Amino acid sequence: MAIRSILFISLAVAIMAIPIAEAQLGGLISGLLGSINVKGIVFCTLDGNIGINGTATPVFPNALVQLQCGNGDVVSTTTTNSAGVFGFVLDPLQMLLSSLITNCSVVVKTPLSTCNVNLPSVGGLQSPLKYVGDTVLGLLNIANLIPSGFRLIPGLAN
Ligand SMILES: *[C@@H]1O[C@H](CO)[C@@H](O)[C@H](O)[C@H]1NC(C)=O
Ligand SMILES: *[C@@H]1O[C@H](CO)[C@@H](O)[C@H](O)[C@H]1NC(C)=O
Repeated sequence: MAIRSILFISLAVAIMAIPIAEAQLGGLISGLLGSINVKGIVFCTLDGNIGINGTATPVFPNALVQLQCGNGDVVSTTTTNSAGVFGFVLDPLQMLLSSLITNCSVVVKTPLSTCNVNLPSVGGLQSPLKYVGDTVLGLLNIANLIPSGFRLIPGLAN
């Protein structure tokens, strides 16, 4: 009985102590509980960017998109959805924001002729990345990156 009471009190004290510990660890945890989100839309145009018709510009669905770093190292691969949207979620402990911006790019491997037969059937689109700010969700800090502008690389292997 006595042991039970002690256990109960210890548990109660431990639970009450959690918010204090959490507040102290807050800074450290938010540094660890972060992610880097790379998100963009690929349009079905000669340069992959939004055209003069604005949001009426056709998109490029089901396109193979790679995140490449350094000398063409494929870090991650995804495909665009039906709205032409693609995204990569990266761990900031493995991937530095600064090196993503200086050393990495988004590459669209699927030829443009796949979304429009009048567009080139060889080559691919490539864009560097740019930082557009952070989103904070509770303790989670998300650094947002978008393609800064695609261009067609005729010699890019598909
Ligand atoms: C813009 O829209 C008009 C009307 O639908 C179309 O005729 C034209 O080809 C479009 N231009 C581009 C560059 O998509
Ligand atoms: C650039 O990317 C390559 C390949 O992922 C990597 O080996 C290299 O360390 C990176 N350089 C910098 C400056 O981040």
